[in-house]
Amino acid sequence: MADGWERLAREDPLWAIDPSLADADVAAFRATGAALVAQVLEWAAPARWDRALEIGFGIGRNLVHLAEQFARVDGVDVSPTMVELAREHGLPANVEVHVTDGRSLAALPDASFDLVFSNLVLQHVGDEDVVAAYVRETARVLTDDGVAALQFDTRRLPFAARVARALLPGAKRRAMRRYPRAAEWVRAQAATAGLTVSVEHGDAANHWFVLRPA
Ligand SMILES: C[S@@+](CC[C@H](N)C(=O)[O-])C[C@H]1O[C@@H](n2cnc3c(N)ncnc32)[C@H](O)[C@@H]1O
Repeated sequence: MADGWERLAREDPLWAIDPSLADADVAAFRATGAALVAQVLEWAAPARWDRALEIGFGIGRNLVHLAEQFARVDGVDVSPTMVELAREHGLPANVEVHVTDGRSLAALPDASFDLVFSNLVLQHVGDEDVVAAYVRETARVLTDDGVAALQFDTRRLPFAARVARALLPGAKRRAMRRYPRAAEWVRAQAATAGLTVSVEHGDAANHWFVLRPA
């Protein structure tokens, strides 16, 4: 998992994050995060605007917009090169980025974030236990009145489509493969972690769960 994204980050980071924006310049690429961040913040309606966290931030297209709304923003990403690229392309002074081990938020303290945000990340994690661990870690770092907005792919793919997906993509695309998970499974992980589903939005390919401490 880590190796796959690290390789993609070195070879073709913009394409890996969003193939439709592979040829965009970085400013234009990052501008595409504004509408998504605004939409998700409207859905999540955080109670406070002190600290936000993004899990899997790529080159920072959402971080820069979160930084306009929150006093302080942290980002974690499994790829050291993505972390470096985000820094090289410039980050606001209130943003701090960290390399993660790919399954925990170990660098971050308990009960400290008003918002935890993640887009186009958990859908690429093949190991179910890792996704479950991130949901538990999200619960751990949220403040009592904090809110998480996590995107999943919850499509029910026919068996044939799942087999084709597993067999067809070449090595370059492997880390980018999507692993759809049933919405019921996501809700169960949230409940186990002590989170309630406040609201759900989007379609199954981009299914947003807004979660709050129970
Ligand atoms: C498709 S990109 C999305 C980037 C960003 N969220 C955005 O919307 O532009 C996926 C990002 O998640 C990171 N990633 C993949 N698996 C991860 C994991 N287990 N933990 C943290 N980051 C991960 C990748 O390195 C990559 O930067």
